[in-house]
Amino acid sequence: MAKTKRKYVCQACGSVSPRWQGQCSDCAEWNSLVEEAAPTVFSAKHDLSGGGQTIRFVPLDAPVPLPQRRPTGLAEFDRALGGGFVPGSAILMGGDPGIGKSTLLLQTCATVARSGGRVVYISGEEAAGQVRLRAERLGLSDAPVSLAATTSVRDILTTLGDMEPPALLIIDSIQTMHSDQIEGAPGTVSQVRGCALELIRYAKRNGVAMVLVGHVTKDGNIAGPRVLEHMVDVVMSFEGERSHQYRILRALKNRFGAVDEIGVFSMEGAGLVEVTNPSMLFLSGRDEPLAGSAVFPALEGTRPVLVEIQALIVRLQSGATPRRAVVGWDNGRMAMLLAVLEARCGLTFSSAEVYLNVAGGYRLTDPAADLAVAAALVSALSERALPAQSVWFGEVSLAGEIRPVAHAPLRLRESVKLGFDRAFGPGSVAEKGEKVAGARFHPMRQLPNLVDHVVGSQ
Ligand code: TYD
Ligand code: MG
Repeated sequence: MAKTKRKYVCQACGSVSPRWQGQCSDCAEWNSLVEEAAPTVFSAKHDLSGGGQTIRFVPLDAPVPLPQRRPTGLAEFDRALGGGFVPGSAILMGGDPGIGKSTLLLQTCATVARSGGRVVYISGEEAAGQVRLRAERLGLSDAPVSLAATTSVRDILTTLGDMEPPALLIIDSIQTMHSDQIEGAPGTVSQVRGCALELIRYAKRNGVAMVLVGHVTKDGNIAGPRVLEHMVDVVMSFEGERSHQYRILRALKNRFGAVDEIGVFSMEGAGLVEVTNPSMLFLSGRDEPLAGSAVFPALEGTRPVLVEIQALIVRLQSGATPRRAVVGWDNGRMAMLLAVLEARCGLTFSSAEVYLNVAGGYRLTDPAADLAVAAALVSALSERALPAQSVWFGEVSLAGEIRPVAHAPLRLRESVKLGFDRAFGPGSVAEKGEKVAGARFHPMRQLPNLVDHVVGSQ
């Protein structure tokens, strides 16, 4: 006997609840639960222990052909992807609205099409005329891209089924797609999941590399079900501040390659331009050292990038709760660093507002940033500038020790190349002989060493 149940699905995180409630119990989003029909539930027990086919097991070292990658034509995109598109793979590309996803993909389509690949671009958000206008502005109109504006997955799959499969298929965006087989409006969890499943099935069967554009919610997750992230082979995020010019393309998951490389672009009048040497982009370019500013040699995959970290501390007179705000770094990590500075170095931040900013709209993920952030905080608190042309790196433990970090020589070499000849970092760098010619290295073993250096030496 089959019975149909109702269920309530959170449109933000995809969690399912048997009852409606005002707030999702998983992601705490308000008013996000929408009623959707649950699949038919069978009450009779199924016995699955017979009647199937026998599976053939293979050894781990069985020969596998490596996937043949197709370069995108944009070296920075290829770098982030780990070498280009893999045919038959699905890529989910997330990013804030207006960050440049459609621009990047249109440019990619044009380069692939110009090099002889068949490309289909389906726009569900913009009319074909709008996409054509953009192409004209970017000087890409001559590229043989098959463009269509539609939102019906049935129409898309019918059309694609009648033609030779393209090398690259773009769906911009998955949230606008609609299947008449599924209940609910476009953008609901069941629609997004169902449409993605059908499109991915087509891509896998026909060896098509497919990019699904995905919207991002205000807290940075790709909207719709998290399951979308499990269904695709690669999840990429296109990041940056809209008010800044630089954009970073990052792989968050990649079944065919590493996830630590980034692609760097600059948004200009003529679209996205690749930045092949990004190491100086995120420095403010000022010569005079200022209190509260520290330079951190970050590592993105194999590329060092020098980033300026700025801290501002405002002492409060009244007993109001002080604010803490972080842009470009982890909030929790800053709270931890402040606690360590208080507990191990005797500094007091509790009655002060603390603001931290990573220059240039860059988002730091490298754990080695701790020491540079601590240096910026101590420098802001003591109102003393850090030594000119100095870089800081190292991970800080709860005990206040400065711990070793990966690839110290690479960070030091790039710093020296850009004229930063003083470096402060973990003691292990000196012990392991990782020092680099041209850099004066100051080992820091404990956080109090940093405080002594900044406060005591001047
Ligand atoms: P878009 O690709 O439409 O973003 P998304 O698809 O992620 O929503 O990018 C739109 C923004 O990019 C828009 O605000 C203007 C800017 N832009 C440029 O600065 N230069 C250009 O050549 C183009 C095409 C867009
Ligand atoms: Mg767009």
